[in-house]
Amino acid sequence: MSPPLRIAVLASGRGSNLAALIAARDAGALPAEFVLVASDKADAGALRLAEAAGIPTLALAPRAYPDRRAFDLDLFARIAHSGAELLVLAGFMRILDAEALAPWAGRMINIHPSLLPRHRGLHTHRRALEAGDAEHGASVHYVTAELDGGPVIAQARLAVAPGDDEDRLAARLLPLEHQLLPAVAALIAARRLALGDDGRVRLDGRTLPRPLNLSDGQLLP
Ligand code: GRF
Repeated sequence: MSPPLRIAVLASGRGSNLAALIAARDAGALPAEFVLVASDKADAGALRLAEAAGIPTLALAPRAYPDRRAFDLDLFARIAHSGAELLVLAGFMRILDAEALAPWAGRMINIHPSLLPRHRGLHTHRRALEAGDAEHGASVHYVTAELDGGPVIAQARLAVAPGDDEDRLAARLLPLEHQLLPAVAALIAARRLALGDDGRVRLDGRTLPRPLNLSDGQLLP
């Protein structure tokens, strides 16, 4: 068995995806050591969750820095200092500087609540409804300098139902996010997943022709 994966998490909000990662570890489904939870919001619920779980936390205020790059470089230096092998963005609501994130290429993932490449950016549930999408979902992707544009590793799909509004659709999707993110992290912890030099996702050394699909809690090709 591989040693536990050292994970740092960045989150700006309530932290339910962080909670799902911690729960997966506690259930034995994710061999991980959480070395840091960091936020750009001192009052983020994610920081309280991390404290309660005994995980080191860090809150940095963007306004204390002259510009985005200075903030990101300091943040990423501190994350590197934590010894993290994988950096998970779980509701981190900031655009990242390309130079700051470059050293983390292939070691940083994000969960985004849409079926990428559809609906990058904000308000994804509303936009899926407005577009009349029959299907919605969530994606976990490697992070690149392009906002929500990195190679997609895996997706969870959900049929849009009559009567769905923005809140209901988000609420129905969230439990799937909570399965999807730990499942991808577990593949990384098992050292089965990698980003190739060609920018494509590899599972067990083979290029994935399309993102993995979450089905009954399992990631399937
Ligand atoms: C999730 O919907 C995630 O997909 C998006 O931000 C939200 C974070 O929620 N990137 P939480 O803080 O994990 O509860």
